[in-house]
Amino acid sequence: MLPDELTDPERDIPEREHPVRAEEDLLTARHAVRATAVAAGFSIIDQTKIVTAASELVRNAYIHGGGGTMTIAVVRDGRGRMGLGLSVRDDGPGITDVEQAMADGFSTGAGLGHGLGGTKRLVDEFTIDTTPGRGTTVAIVRWKP
Ligand SMILES: Nc1ncnc2c1ncn2[C@@H]1O[C@H](COP(=O)(O)OP(=O)(O)OP(=O)(O)O)[C@@H](O)[C@H]1O
Ligand SMILES: [Mg+2]
Repeated sequence: MLPDELTDPERDIPEREHPVRAEEDLLTARHAVRATAVAAGFSIIDQTKIVTAASELVRNAYIHGGGGTMTIAVVRDGRGRMGLGLSVRDDGPGITDVEQAMADGFSTGAGLGHGLGGTKRLVDEFTIDTTPGRGTTVAIVRWKP
């Protein structure tokens, strides 16, 4: 694991934006999230949880949102705890009923409808900001134990 001074959010792991426009961007996004989680010293299990969560969100932005942008950031809370934060935003149709969209088994597409609910269970913080006709931003944080 890297010593804390090497994982300073301002110097070594700057916030990065990744476009989610094409199929291959999904893989690039996964790799970027994995690399950041490794650099931030997350366990292999936590890396996998974070990458799985990110993967669901970028896939949603790609499939339901018509493409978007993923932002990765190493964040700290008031007590200095480090976390990996991700936001995935798109300018797609938005979600009219968030509660319904979060429910396992609900899908307007060909999926199983487990993406959003599953993602929420994999992370510590989960917020959806969506406006019908305007787009959707999902932000997540996984704190480092
Ligand atoms: N970025 C988004 N823009 C618009 N609608 C979305 C977005 N993300 C999710 N939704 C809506 O919420 C529903 C549930 O999303 P969820 O990820 O849980 O399931 P899914 O994508 O349909 O299937 P799965 O992820 O299991 O393959 C989607 O079917 C879609 O209607
Ligand atoms: Mg999904």
